[in-house]
Amino acid sequence: MSKNLRGLSARKGLERSLYKETMKAVRPVKDDGDLQQVADDFLIGKASLHGAGSFYDIPRRERAGAKAFLCDGTACLVSGRREKLKDALSGSFAANEIGHVTCLGHCHSNDAFLYAHATWSLDDLAELGTPGLPAPARKPVPTGTNAVTSVLMAPITDLDVHYATLLRQVGDPELALEEIGLSGLRGRGGAGFPFHFKLRAAREAAGDQKYVVCNADEGDPGAFSDKWLLEERPHAVLAGMMATGFIIGADTGVLYIRGEYPESIAAIKTAIGELAARGLLGDNIRGTGRSFRFHVIEGAGAYICGEETALLNSIEGLRPEVRTRPPFPTTYGLFGKPTLLSNVETLANLRFILVAGGQAYAALGTKQSPGTKLVSLDGAFHRPGVYEVLMGTPLRQVVETLGGGTRYPVKAFQIGGPLGGLVPISKLDDLNLDFESFASAGFLLGHAGIVSIPEHFPMAELLAHLFDFTARESCGKCFPCRIGSRRGQELLDGAIHHGKRIDRNLFDDLLETLQHGSLCALGGGLPLPVRNALTYFGDELAPFFTGP
Ligand SMILES: Cc1cc2nc3c(=O)[nH]c(=O)nc-3n(C[C@H](O)[C@H](O)[C@H](O)COP(=O)(O)O)c2cc1C
Ligand code: SF4
Repeated sequence: MSKNLRGLSARKGLERSLYKETMKAVRPVKDDGDLQQVADDFLIGKASLHGAGSFYDIPRRERAGAKAFLCDGTACLVSGRREKLKDALSGSFAANEIGHVTCLGHCHSNDAFLYAHATWSLDDLAELGTPGLPAPARKPVPTGTNAVTSVLMAPITDLDVHYATLLRQVGDPELALEEIGLSGLRGRGGAGFPFHFKLRAAREAAGDQKYVVCNADEGDPGAFSDKWLLEERPHAVLAGMMATGFIIGADTGVLYIRGEYPESIAAIKTAIGELAARGLLGDNIRGTGRSFRFHVIEGAGAYICGEETALLNSIEGLRPEVRTRPPFPTTYGLFGKPTLLSNVETLANLRFILVAGGQAYAALGTKQSPGTKLVSLDGAFHRPGVYEVLMGTPLRQVVETLGGGTRYPVKAFQIGGPLGGLVPISKLDDLNLDFESFASAGFLLGHAGIVSIPEHFPMAELLAHLFDFTARESCGKCFPCRIGSRRGQELLDGAIHHGKRIDRNLFDDLLETLQHGSLCALGGGLPLPVRNALTYFGDELAPFFTGP
């Protein structure tokens, strides 16, 4: 069925994709007549449009009157500043003008809200809420590094030189692919999959239309490094996509940027405009015989759209449910065409590799996890922000030397988002910041956003939050995740608020079912932080459980 819809959606192309039309039609101010129009135009049923459009948070009718949106992310929750922010917002906005939004990627302040297409923190509110006063200047996100050679943060000073070099370096796509293979670059979106395998598969896939898709849906609460790259180094991301396109034979790049990042969307659109103005886009770029163009798709509020196949379905205008694999996107991706889909940071690494060479990249970091990694530190740190660190850097160095330690006592760090591990403070000296070190110790590096869990924040409440997050963001395709995540949250809420005790055997069965019965890492990954908590905070959690 979805193959047929995919075919119909593809007929109109990306300019008039079903996704864009559905999003326009389901906006709160529109009525069903608009949906009917789109349904007729695409020859599909209205139910399919409802199914897709109603999936997302941003177009929801109940948000229609809201002006300021409180961040629901983990860092804002555990910092305890959300109530304070809510009270403060109440002074400037009526109750129905205050809404909620999933993590805004502003975790360096831990008290974020969205207002007038920009993200602010509590400190900005006085100026924003005072009529007649100009909006406060946007404060840059603090940055730092421990890498002598900066791969990701190095500024791009001359756009013409930057893109001319890139075009030259991918003149021979096979050589470029070899260099990327030598670099050992692994995907930064969470799984650490070797990038050149995907590149080779997409290059060798048969098809006269191929796509490069940049996953800029960074939904992990605690992570804001992709946001930083999109806003501060947009030409590193765009160049990485172009180079990828030239290597695999794709002439179209699609950036899927989450709607909660309005500043990132604006920055990327500006950068694309700069390329167009220099004649670096379109057909036969500067007489090289190569063509490339970009499309920007603005997400509409759904964490699962960060999962690669849900993201592809979303662009196509289908309900963003996870697809079964195989086939993999490299052979059957966007609109069923060969597609190289990668994370923002992965793609931003390519400019260094193509210019300095694969060996130079491989010499940084560790043998199995080469290169550098951007790490996001939340507002609990003395020096919160985005840091570029060499892979293999001791975690304590990241926390204390770069981040300056935390401003209040912390008992754990949640690293790698809601599906990442929960690292107790006692493990600080046992971990290095690379894929192997984390995996072998029973954690997950993921996207390396670090959220500090204060000493006083109840672990049971954090677990209830993680189950609730999964339940709200589940695509609903498989029952362990769709039902199991809600049951887990109910069990925890019953224990926290109504004095009930959770049968430990039942709870362990639930985790087992989630881990092994879920189709993707949303349901399948949730047990990791939960088990970490049970292992390292067993004494604190014991009063909520019965049984062994
Ligand atoms: C629930 C879920 C959410 C995800 N969110 C993101 C995301 O926001 N950004 C991202 O790059 N990858 C995300 N991923 C991983 C993608 O599915 C995919 O592996 C990645 O984008 C591939 O790019 P890479 O090889 O460059 O890492 C998510 C995966 C899951 C299961
Ligand atoms: S695990 Fe959850 S998000 Fe993933 S496919 Fe199943 S229902 Fe969808």
